[in-house]
Amino acid sequence: MKKKESIIKYYKKQSGFYDITRPLFLFGRSVIVKWIAETNPKGTLLEIGCGTGHILKTLARHTDYTLTGIDLSPDMLEIAKRKLPNEIEIYQTDLSEYSPDEKYDAVLLSYVFTLDFSQIEAHIKKVKQLLKPNGRIYVLDFHRYGSTLYKRYMNWHGIEMGEELLTLLESEFTTERKSIRKAYGGVWEYFIYEGINVRD
Ligand SMILES: C[S@@+](CC[C@H](N)C(=O)[O-])C[C@H]1O[C@@H](n2cnc3c(N)ncnc32)[C@H](O)[C@@H]1O
Repeated sequence: MKKKESIIKYYKKQSGFYDITRPLFLFGRSVIVKWIAETNPKGTLLEIGCGTGHILKTLARHTDYTLTGIDLSPDMLEIAKRKLPNEIEIYQTDLSEYSPDEKYDAVLLSYVFTLDFSQIEAHIKKVKQLLKPNGRIYVLDFHRYGSTLYKRYMNWHGIEMGEELLTLLESEFTTERKSIRKAYGGVWEYFIYEGINVRD
């Protein structure tokens, strides 16, 4: 089965209990909202892989951004639709196929890159195309396994992680700030990143 189809299938099952279970391991989501709000944002923000709309809902309360979300999974978006105000536009699409009329002032990806780790370079290239010059990219994701047992568990859930993701982000964008944090005393590490799409 192709990666894209397996993600859709995985979230068909997970969507029903996603919002209850994910606070136990998708750490950093409130921090990234705080970082976004602190830049005194204006304009447009796209969340790629917005899932059930957890972050978009919080961003709508704490920022003045005009918000858009895209996601592969119709099941996750069904929940987002129920939760979000009508002015937040959401579309079911793969990141690689999304071609909006206008570029965004900011783009956010929270726990999306590590679902398809073999595509990180292609996905970063696409994100750069979606961002205005000097637009901001925010990324929150898994950084490093703390043990082989945990690696096996995450791979079983279709997730792969590696330090090369943060390295690649730092080579493609100008880093504004980053933070690497431990989860459960080091079972894994996750990172929070803010960069600027400076013109080449
Ligand atoms: C772990 S969930 C994170 C959801 C949300 N960002 C959050 O932090 O709660 C990852 C989401 O990314 C979506 N996704 C994965 N690959 C994608 C792609 N290539 N294009 C669009 N959405 C994608 C999945 O369908 C899933 O809903």
